[in-house]
Amino acid sequence: MEFTDKGWTTTDIGRLFRIPERIKSQKTLVNAEERGEIPIASRILRGKIPVRQWTIGQLPAIGEKFGFLAKPNSQKIICIYTPKGGVLKTSFAYNLARILALNGIKTLIIGLDFQCSITNYSLTREPVDSIDKMPTKMFGLYHYFSEKLNDIKQIILKTSLPTLDILPEVPEIFALDKKLRLEPRREYVFIDKFMGQLNNYEVIIFDNSPSWNQLVENSLTASNVVLSPMGCEPESFEALQTNFEIIFEFQKALKLNWEHFIQIPTLLEKTNISQQIYAAYLNLYGNRVVPFPIRRSVTGQDARVLKHSVIEQDPSSPLAQDYYDAIRNIWERLN
Ligand SMILES: Nc1ncnc2c1ncn2[C@@H]1O[C@H](COP(=O)(O)OP(=O)(O)O)[C@@H](O)[C@H]1O
Ligand SMILES: [Mg+2]
Repeated sequence: MEFTDKGWTTTDIGRLFRIPERIKSQKTLVNAEERGEIPIASRILRGKIPVRQWTIGQLPAIGEKFGFLAKPNSQKIICIYTPKGGVLKTSFAYNLARILALNGIKTLIIGLDFQCSITNYSLTREPVDSIDKMPTKMFGLYHYFSEKLNDIKQIILKTSLPTLDILPEVPEIFALDKKLRLEPRREYVFIDKFMGQLNNYEVIIFDNSPSWNQLVENSLTASNVVLSPMGCEPESFEALQTNFEIIFEFQKALKLNWEHFIQIPTLLEKTNISQQIYAAYLNLYGNRVVPFPIRRSVTGQDARVLKHSVIEQDPSSPLAQDYYDAIRNIWERLN
């Protein structure tokens, strides 16, 4: 059984949303349930005492009231992009999306990586024992264009959270990149062809591959915020000194007016070199850097295997603390 399928008690939910830190009364959830302000929990007998348990799907309605992130003041379209692989782009995109959704914020992930990382991360597949039970073919953005569908919602899939949907990558996305190169206004195809149909989402998050392509250009053009994770390790440091230029040259050429360009230090270690690189990032990029780095930790890999966010995995882990701090900081900047 997956962790996300377990029932969530008042204590679990208190830890997930850090309720005791922010709200005094111990009985808040119970009172809210009795007043009909949050969904009704089922009762599980522990010995002779009935204990309240909520399902994962009920959490966003609770998070909307008791979470730590308020609703955004306008639609946020966030492009996650760093011209470097392995710096936690996909991990950060997924954790951000899931944490927003847990707080009751209606969120859509759009996967744009040829490796289909965030799609594999987001969607759980039941194990199958016969070919008849294999999942039907998944449709993605490529099919939206090649089959000339006119409703983008036809290819959007649901996740275990009612507030989180995904527009999945399919391997054919590679061909879409090629196709877009031949289109007129090729950097504006997303805006021209489907972004307007997604107004019901409060937040849209694009997860990109590290290599520069038409999908990266389209997502940068369609977004009002760019989030760029940077690894605190020598390989990333070396690459990023020059690689960031490509983003700013593109921004200049297209006169893009992002509200925010935010850089997030990731993979921080206790070693001297890692700490020095973090300090160098702060020095080079100043206020654009989130002063709450995401540490290198196996909890990140574990959460990924189980397909939930780090804060669901273990809300009291140091890595969960990093995500709480970084995401709260980013959210304050955006709102
Ligand atoms: N906090 C962490 N520390 C170390 N490794 C992590 C952490 N979080 C995730 N990982 C692992 O790091 C690898 C690269 O992360 P990923 O998000 O795919 O990077 P990118 O999308 O930038 O290529 C993945 O295998 C992932 O499971
Ligand atoms: Mg990735």
